[in-house]
Amino acid sequence: MTDDSLSSHAHEMDFAPDPAFSAQANGTADLYDAAAADHEGFWAEQARSRITWATDFERTLDWDDAPFAKWFVGGRLNVAHNCVDRHVEAGNGDRVAIHFEGEGGDTRAITYADLQREVAKTANALTELGVTTGDTVAIYMPMIPETVFTMLACARLGAPHSVIFGGFSAEALHTRIDDAQCKVVVTTDGQFRRGKPSPLKPAVDEALQYPNPVEKVLVVRRTGTDVAWSEDRDVWWHDLVERQADTHEAQPHDSEHPLFILYTSGTTGKPKGIFHTSGGYLTQAAYTNAVVHDVHPESDVYWCTADVGWVTGHSYIVYGPLANGATQVMYEGTPDTPHQGRWWELIEKYGVTVLYTAPTAIRTFMKWGDDIPAKFDLSSVRLLGSVGEPINPEAWLWYRKHIGGDRAPIVDTWWQTETGGIMISPLPGVTTLEPGSAQRPIPGIAAEILDDDGQPFTEAEKVGYLVLTKPWPAMLRGIWGDPERYKDTYWSRFGPKYYFAGDGAKYDEKGNIWLLGRVDDVMNVSGHRLSTAEIESALVSHPKVAEAAVVGASDETTGQAVCAFVILRQEAVEEADEPGEGGDLVQELRNHVAHEIGPIAKPRQIMIVPELPKTRSGKIMRRLLKDVAENREVGDVTTLADSSVMSMIQQGLTGGS
Ligand code: WTA
Repeated sequence: MTDDSLSSHAHEMDFAPDPAFSAQANGTADLYDAAAADHEGFWAEQARSRITWATDFERTLDWDDAPFAKWFVGGRLNVAHNCVDRHVEAGNGDRVAIHFEGEGGDTRAITYADLQREVAKTANALTELGVTTGDTVAIYMPMIPETVFTMLACARLGAPHSVIFGGFSAEALHTRIDDAQCKVVVTTDGQFRRGKPSPLKPAVDEALQYPNPVEKVLVVRRTGTDVAWSEDRDVWWHDLVERQADTHEAQPHDSEHPLFILYTSGTTGKPKGIFHTSGGYLTQAAYTNAVVHDVHPESDVYWCTADVGWVTGHSYIVYGPLANGATQVMYEGTPDTPHQGRWWELIEKYGVTVLYTAPTAIRTFMKWGDDIPAKFDLSSVRLLGSVGEPINPEAWLWYRKHIGGDRAPIVDTWWQTETGGIMISPLPGVTTLEPGSAQRPIPGIAAEILDDDGQPFTEAEKVGYLVLTKPWPAMLRGIWGDPERYKDTYWSRFGPKYYFAGDGAKYDEKGNIWLLGRVDDVMNVSGHRLSTAEIESALVSHPKVAEAAVVGASDETTGQAVCAFVILRQEAVEEADEPGEGGDLVQELRNHVAHEIGPIAKPRQIMIVPELPKTRSGKIMRRLLKDVAENREVGDVTTLADSSVMSMIQQGLTGGS
């Protein structure tokens, strides 16, 4: 492998923790020692001190059937009780749990006591719709409080939820509903995006035209737009939920009871239903939100800008902060509506102290200009976080200076849908920060970097594969319905001892870990995982396309961008007006991908080519296509079956665009 990442030498700059910050920090240096001395004992302590168990667990970790883990065996808890009721019982019912801000400026302050009533009503409503423990519920909703109520109501009932990001299409929705056999879908008429209502329910209606297991669709009225209505199937939230009793007796569930399924892209066309369970997941979500985000529930106003449709929203909007009894901001809309200072206005308005966001957003703000955040009072900010992709040092330094007042530490947190919670990150009161590096595994987590032969090494600047070497509480318990794929994907590349994360990594001279992006066919576009295979199969499902190859090309703002190379079927070639880029056909294909997967998967670029570069065994050499997409000189072509293909492709492109 070669290191084509950012140079770590460009910024020999580090930031020691401010003693005043360290003095109040939740995460302390002794946690590293405690975890190293007794891995299981450390996690047992986290589980008992942070979570309320209805029945204490008997065994911390059962790894006998590795890689299938059981954590906190024999323990029973109710996740929703932990996130809501116990805070009310402890006398914090008046504390705001969620400051909701709609895109259009409508607001709602929801206290923990309010949250308890709303979750109870929603749980009663789902029960009336026939949902019981073990049933799966699909949630296709925007960033509104009802989404949180629904997730917690599902957790309360022990009905695993499957949240499907609102940017996914009807097709994607149908696949996911079908795979998890969801009994109920919860959705809204629409959401507000860029000042306009944007519909959601029509995608549910379209998805449910195919055979499906869904009995009821519960619909929140958010935008007031007209929607099609199926009398037997559809139920308005305001008709059903509002009339329910606002109390609900929560039953404890087994520590290993499934909490949710969340689909993520893998290296094949079929998305993986990553599934998480209760006790271990909640323990790590609460622990990391406390020690990494340093959330102090009594004084902080925390804001995670992720969408609940992604794992970051699950762990760091819903489960972690609510388990800790934190106060947070939830914002529905886009950062540039109605103006490019919206986020900073919200920080000023709510006095946000801890902000957790993604590098792609930070780079966008850099592009918009320093003068925009400068207009707002951001002095409340005391800690910043980053997640989703490597943060380049330039963006890191900008973030610290322009948002963090040159004083707030930044935690660059590496983790995955599969890991459930943060794995590699500085502890803000302990770690001397190194811009661009996620640095070390947090206390309780063990990672190594392996070479091509699967040997661990510690040399600086050598590039290898990141692996996790000890089971951790929030680890995925499998891929829904496909245990073999779970083993193959994560536990076979380097043998059953190592969880293979799919990321390249290296150490620097100080022993800090630098994450270098995916080493498989998964792209990272604005922090969203997309599979090349999934987009390729969407493209070839179009009648005019014979073959397609997709690569992630580097992009200044989004990290990577989807670039597709497409061979047309003969009839389409004859019709096509122009070769290369451009033309209506390209637009048609882009829209087709949006329809098949969702707007997030729309290729930035589609290039119509006469051939694709293949090895003699027929494997597409994406490396060469990436060179073309990134406007580089094309690399070694000697393993191509037909070495003239690359020049054909390039000639076609220069001729056409
Ligand atoms: C990437 C998001 C570098 C990585 C929580 C990982 C990162 C994938 C970082 C998981 C980071 C996430 N530095 N890379 N701080 N955080 N990644 O499942 O490639 O949507 O494997 O989970 O994002 O993406 P996922």
